[in-house]
Amino acid sequence: MKRNEAKQKAAELLAKMTLEEKVAQMVQVPYKMVGREESIRWAEMGAGSFLHVLGDDAREIQRVARKTRLGIPVLFGIDAIHGHGLNDHATIFPSQLAAACSWDPEQLETIGTITAREVATDGLHWTFSPVLCLGRDTRWGRVDETFGEDPFLAGILGAAIIRGYQGEDLSDHEHILACAKHYLGYGEAVGARDACDTECTMRKIREVFLPPFARAVEAGCATIMTAYGSIDGTPLTIHRPLLHDVLRDELGFDGFVVTDWDNARSLVTRQQVMENLEEAAVAAAAAGNDMIMTTLEFYDAMLKAVARDPRQLRAVDDAVLHILTIKYEMGLFEQPEKKGRPGCIGCREHTDAALEAARRTVTLLKNEDMLPLSRAIRTVAVIGPNADDIQAQYGDWTYFSHPMPDKDHPPVRPFVTFREGMEQLGDRHGVRILYARGCGHLPSPEDNLEEAFQLGAQADAIFFACGDMIDQIGESKDRADLSLSGRQDELFARLAALGKPICTVLISSKPLCIPLEADRSGAVICAFNGGMFGGQAIAEAVFGEFNPSGHLPISFPRHSGQVPVYYNFLPGWHNGKYCDLPAAPLYAFGEGLSYTTFRLENLRADPETLQVHFRLSNTGSRAGTALVQIYQQDLVSSVLTPVKRLIAFTHGFLEPGQTEEMSIFLAREDFALINAAGKSVVEPGQFRILAGFSSKDEDLTETMIRLS
Ligand code: BGC
Repeated sequence: MKRNEAKQKAAELLAKMTLEEKVAQMVQVPYKMVGREESIRWAEMGAGSFLHVLGDDAREIQRVARKTRLGIPVLFGIDAIHGHGLNDHATIFPSQLAAACSWDPEQLETIGTITAREVATDGLHWTFSPVLCLGRDTRWGRVDETFGEDPFLAGILGAAIIRGYQGEDLSDHEHILACAKHYLGYGEAVGARDACDTECTMRKIREVFLPPFARAVEAGCATIMTAYGSIDGTPLTIHRPLLHDVLRDELGFDGFVVTDWDNARSLVTRQQVMENLEEAAVAAAAAGNDMIMTTLEFYDAMLKAVARDPRQLRAVDDAVLHILTIKYEMGLFEQPEKKGRPGCIGCREHTDAALEAARRTVTLLKNEDMLPLSRAIRTVAVIGPNADDIQAQYGDWTYFSHPMPDKDHPPVRPFVTFREGMEQLGDRHGVRILYARGCGHLPSPEDNLEEAFQLGAQADAIFFACGDMIDQIGESKDRADLSLSGRQDELFARLAALGKPICTVLISSKPLCIPLEADRSGAVICAFNGGMFGGQAIAEAVFGEFNPSGHLPISFPRHSGQVPVYYNFLPGWHNGKYCDLPAAPLYAFGEGLSYTTFRLENLRADPETLQVHFRLSNTGSRAGTALVQIYQQDLVSSVLTPVKRLIAFTHGFLEPGQTEEMSIFLAREDFALINAAGKSVVEPGQFRILAGFSSKDEDLTETMIRLS
C-alpha cells in the first residue's frame, strides 16, 4: 500500500481507538527482559511493538494481538546489526565498520537485502540498523557499528543498506523496516563516554552529524531512533527542534521515531531534567518520539497525563498515526507475518555472500614485498589471541554478545577463523601452518610467550593476529587506552626479534594503536570484525587468491592521546602537531594498498558540468580494483571549512598495463558549507579538487575549480 493510502487507513482506524488502545500502540515491550507471560499480557493490552523476540515466540505474540478488539498487528524489532546475528543460525556479515572498508554501496545493499530476508523469515519486521553516528572519537565503544569517520561515506553506505533492508516496497515479503540511529551526535560525547553530553553547536550538527541522516531520509528510511545522550545540555529525547522541526519539517521524514532503550525513564533517573515519569512521558511524546522503547511505565504515565490535560492527546494521536501508517504500508493488517523465504536462514547463497563481503573488507596497510606469500615460504607460524577466536572475529551483536550475552554458547558452523583459513589454504598450497595463541587479550596465567617464540623460530614467516575481544567492544565498553591490551605488544616484540618476515593482522572492532607493529612488520592487514568468513578472506588474501581492495573508512591513531585524529579537521596553527607526536595518524582515512599499483593523472574539473575527469592506469603486474577518492577544499570561506572533504569516489577495475579515461559527476551541494547562521550555502570562489587513493596529500593530485 502506498504511504498516502496507508495514512488514510491509519486515520480511520485512529478514530475508532480508545485512549488506552492509542497509548498502548506507542509502547515497545522488551520480550526477553519481561518474559513470555508479561509479554502476552502486553499483547492483550494492544502494545504496538516488541523487541528481542524470535521465531515462534513472536508468532505467539502476534496471534494474541490479532485477537484483541481491533486486532492491530504487532511490529517486531530486532538488532540485526551485521546480519541477523542474534539468531545463532543466521548469516553473519562483517561489522558495519569492516563492511565500510569496501567503500561499495552495492556491497552494503546486498548485505541489507540478505539480512532483511533472514529477519523476515524469522517472522520479524524491523531491524535497528544502520548506525549513522560517526566514529571520530575512537575511544567510544561502538565505533564498530559505524561506517567510520566521514559524513559523506556514512551517508552513501547508509542509504545503500537501507535500500537493501527495505527494498522497493515495505509490503514485500522479503523486506523489512530499517531504522537509522542514533539521532543525533551520539558517538561524539565528551571523552567518548557513552551517551554523555555532546558539546556541540547546531552549526556543527548540521555540518557533520546531520548529513548521513538526511541521506537516510532521502532513501526512504521508515524509522529513526533517538539517541541516548544530550547535545549542549538538551537530551535528544526531548530535543523537539531536532526531532521534529529539522527531521520532519526540513528533511521531510515521514515515518516514525522510536526512542532508544529506556530513554523516557532516563530523563528522570540519569539526565535529571524531569521530576517524574509523567512529565517525562509528556515531554518525550511532545518532542516527537512516536514509540517508546522499553519504558513500560510510559503507559500509565501518559494515560494520567492526558486525563489531567486533554491537550496531550494531540501528541499521542500524531504518534499513533505515524505508527499505524507504517503498519498499513507494510500490509501487516492483511498479512501480519512476512513469509520471508523458508529455509534461507544461513543458506549457502547467503553464506557465500558473507564470504564475498569479507573479502571486500580486507585492507592492506603495509606491504614490503611480503604478500602475497612467496613460494619460498614453506612453514608459517600463526600466532596471537585473535587467530582462532570466533567471538573476537564476530565482535558485537551476535548470539555471543550484547544484548543477549552468552559467551558459553557453542559457536555454530559455518565459520572460518584466521587460523583455520590459513590451515585450509596451507594444505592447498603445500605450506605447513603452525599455531600458538601466545597470549590472551588480558594478562593471564595461560599466556605462553615462550611457546609462541619457539614456534615462530621454526617458521619461515610469522602472522601475528592481534586485536580486541567482545568484553572490550560495545555499549559501556569505551576505552581510555587504545593500545593493544594484555601482553600482545610484548609478544609481538619477541616474535619480531626473530628477524623473520612478520605480518600483523588486526582483527578488531576498531583502529587500535599499533605503532610498534606498523614499524616492524613487513606487512599489515586490517580486517576488523569480518563476520563468519573473515578468517578465510584474510587467508585467501595472504595466499594471493584475490587482490585486496579495501580502504580505511577511519583513521588509525598513533597513540590514544592523539584521538580524535580524523582527516577532515578544521585548520589551525602548527598543522595540528603535538610537540611529542606528529599531526598525521598512523594510517589515514582512505588508505589501502593492492598487489598492483595505480596511477592517476590528467585531472581536470569542469565548472559548467561539475564533472571531474582523470586518467587511471594499472602500473603493476596484477589485475586490481582501484578506489579513486575525490576531495574538495574551499580556499576562502566565511567560516572555517575542513582541510579536505570527501565529495565523491568510484572504483575502477583494471588489467595490468590498462589505462582508462574516467569521469565523475559532482553536485553543487558538494561545495556547500554551513554558514554562521546555520544555513547551507555555496559561497562563490575557488575550490581545490583533489583526487587519488587516500586522504593523504602525497596520494592526491590536484586541480582548481571556480564556482560562481
Ligand atoms: C542501543 C540501540 C539498540 C537498542 C535495542 C540500545 O541499548 O543503543 O542501538 O538498538 O538498545 O537493543
